[in-house]
Amino acid sequence: MKLFRKKKEVMQADRPVPKHIAIVMDGNGRWATNRGLPRTAGHAAGSEVFRRIATYCRDIGVSYLTVYAFSTENWKRSEEEVTAIMGLLKKYLFEALEKMENDRIRLEFFGDLTRLAPELQELAAKTREISARYEGFQANICLNYGGRDEIVRAARAYAEKCVAGEAVPDALDEAAFSSMLYSGDIPDPDLIIRPSGELRTSNFLLWQSAYSEYYFTDVLWPDYTPEELERAIAAFNKRSRRFGGVK
Ligand code: IPE
Ligand code: IPE
Ligand code: MG
Repeated sequence: MKLFRKKKEVMQADRPVPKHIAIVMDGNGRWATNRGLPRTAGHAAGSEVFRRIATYCRDIGVSYLTVYAFSTENWKRSEEEVTAIMGLLKKYLFEALEKMENDRIRLEFFGDLTRLAPELQELAAKTREISARYEGFQANICLNYGGRDEIVRAARAYAEKCVAGEAVPDALDEAAFSSMLYSGDIPDPDLIIRPSGELRTSNFLLWQSAYSEYYFTDVLWPDYTPEELERAIAAFNKRSRRFGGVK
């Protein structure tokens, strides 16, 4: 344990790490197809990689990791594939709940969970409840998440408050609006990584990404490693973030 701690300190002192990293976990299907396997095998491999990368982020001192696991558009896929993804999620949450104290990975969920199976919703609620008792590294899993959907929901919620006489339109500014998003109480992502060679956001964190640094790689998510993440962090550390100003 002592040894592990020492290694962790060295890893942290080496270079600065982004406070909040977000990842589009893409390429599972192609990874499986390339191996002559069903797409679902790619999702299973991808879920193991999530576990590894989340643990790694925790160890190097990242505060928040937000991952895109299932989009509002992913319901267009075959019933078989959607069922397999939901089954993997259930398995992951069961295991995460058991090991949460040991793992020190708090979990939060971004997205409309009401469309998920009741059993999954219960697991997510329980995970959230236990996570709230701890402090430290937090992983946000985006499930039935869409950036546009998130913005529309926040706008609707504010409009409802106005109708109820609890808010007025003029009081709505960027900070107030941000606080109504799923990510309300956490900082915007510093670095957004998309593996698998696709160069688009696919509706991920549209509001929060205003000044995020993007990093794209051709590596498919099931092949993603901590070394790959270190490459992204190294590239991030070389960027000049000006936020519209001059440096
Ligand atoms: C990402 O991998 C996982 C989900 C979208 C659920 P994909 O399943 O999109 O993999 P590709 O892009 O088809 O290879
Ligand atoms: C984005 O990947 C969603 C997730 C990784 C969960 P997609 O594979 O769904 O995105 P597109 O279809 O390539 O844009
Ligand atoms: Mg994809």
